[in-house]
Amino acid sequence: MRLYTLLAAAKINLYLEIVGSRPDGFHELIMVMQSVSLCDRITVRSIGVDAIRVRCDHPLVPADETNLAYKAAALVSQRCPGMMAKLGGVEITIEKQIPVGAGLAGGSSNAAAVLVGLDLLWNLGLTQSELQELGAELGSDVPFCVSGGSVIATGRGEQLDPLPGIDSLHLVLAKYESEFVSTPWAYQTYRAQYGDTYLSDTQSWQERQSAVRSGAMVQAVAQRDTQALASHLCNDFEKVVLPAHPKTAALRETMAGLGGLGTLMSGSGPSVFTLVETAAEAETLADRLRSALPAPDLGVWTARFSSSGVQLES
Ligand code: C5P
Repeated sequence: MRLYTLLAAAKINLYLEIVGSRPDGFHELIMVMQSVSLCDRITVRSIGVDAIRVRCDHPLVPADETNLAYKAAALVSQRCPGMMAKLGGVEITIEKQIPVGAGLAGGSSNAAAVLVGLDLLWNLGLTQSELQELGAELGSDVPFCVSGGSVIATGRGEQLDPLPGIDSLHLVLAKYESEFVSTPWAYQTYRAQYGDTYLSDTQSWQERQSAVRSGAMVQAVAQRDTQALASHLCNDFEKVVLPAHPKTAALRETMAGLGGLGTLMSGSGPSVFTLVETAAEAETLADRLRSALPAPDLGVWTARFSSSGVQLES
C-alpha cells in the first residue's frame, strides 16, 4: 500500500482590492496573500479499485464528487489517462483543522494537496507550474495554495508574484461557527453596490496594479516592516460582508480593541484575524478574546505566518 500525507496551509489576505469585471465573468483582483501555519492534514492512498473516495469526519464537508479535493483527483485522472487502471484508484482522507466556509481557502488548500499528492502517488513528475495550471481549473485560490508563502496575486487570483516572506509574524484567527459567507454572494453583492466604481479597461487595471506594487502595503511586506504592514491592511469585501453580518462586525471591533498590530477580515470572510509580533502575544490576545466574547460557538485559533503551501508531512 502506498500513501502520502500532506499538510495543506490556510491563507489570509493582507490586502484585497476588487478592481474590475473580467470578460470571463470573474473579477479582476489585486491581493497580497499569505500562508499561515493552520493546516489540514490530507492523506492520499492507493486503493485496489478504479475509483476516487473521499473521507472526512467534518459534518460540513461533503465526501462526494462535489468536494474540491475529489474534483482535483478527477482532473488529474482525466489528464493522465490510464494511471488509475495501472496504479489503482485513490482514497483521500481529510482531517480538518481549517474552519470551513471561512475565507481561509480551506477547500482550495485541500485540492492543492491532492494535486501534489497524486503527482507523487502516480509518479507523474509534474512541475509546480503544471500543478498550478491544473489548480487554476479548479478554483482561483488553488494555484496559490500549491506554493504558498507571501505573494502578490492578480488576474482572478491565479497570477502569482512571490514577495520576500515575512515568517516572523503571528496571528489570532476567529470565526463564529454559525456565520458563513458564500463567496459568489459576496462578489455579486459587491458588484451590485460598487460595480459603478470598477475600472473598465486592461490599461487602467495595469496602472492600478503598478500603483499597488509600489504602494505602502507591498513595500511594507518587501521591507519586512511589520508595523507598516499592519497599518495598511485592507479588504474590499469588508464593505459588503460586515454590514450583512453584524455578529462578525462586532467580533472584528472587539478584536481590533484588544491591542494587536492590526485586524482584518480574510477573503470573503467571515473569519477575522489580528496580527501580533510573538506566539506569546497571540496566546494572550486569544485568551482576552475568549474572555471578552465567551460565546460557545466562537472558534479562536493562533497561528504564525508560513512560507509553505502544501508540504509533505515529515
Ligand atoms: O474561483 P472560485 O471557485 O474560488 O470562485 C468562486 C466564485 O467567486 C466564482 O464563481 C465567482 O462568482 C467568484 N469570483 C469572482 N472573481 C474572482 C474569483 C471568484 O467573481 N477573481
